[in-house]
Amino acid sequence: MIERLNHVAIAVPDLAAAVRLYKEAFGADVSEPVDQPDHGVTTVFVTLANTKIELLHPLGTDSPIARFLERSPAGGIHHLCYEVADIFAARDRMVSSGLRVLGDGVPKPGAHGNPVLFLHPKDMSGTLIELEQS
Ligand code: CO
Repeated sequence: MIERLNHVAIAVPDLAAAVRLYKEAFGADVSEPVDQPDHGVTTVFVTLANTKIELLHPLGTDSPIARFLERSPAGGIHHLCYEVADIFAARDRMVSSGLRVLGDGVPKPGAHGNPVLFLHPKDMSGTLIELEQS
């Protein structure tokens, strides 16, 4: 049911430094930063041939990324995003498999405008998983 790996998200304490690294050292295709106030993050996407890297930096006072960086000040992998064809069918299948969907279980527009859901990391080998409708 899951399809492509849409992106790997990395929380970064210094967004400009991370952008420089991907642009200059890696020679990657790097987007402009986009503020996403609804999610408390600023995002930058690095486009690779087979997937993307989402650089996440805290935005505002109540950012989940700020809390993540308190625990991991150097930054780190924050979540993986898998594509699914039908987000509602995916949610129902996850729930019937005993997995916890975060929040109210209603898909919300994600960083690309497509509906997304998150699965509880404790059910997923300690890894926060985002599902995005492709
Ligand atoms: Co994401």
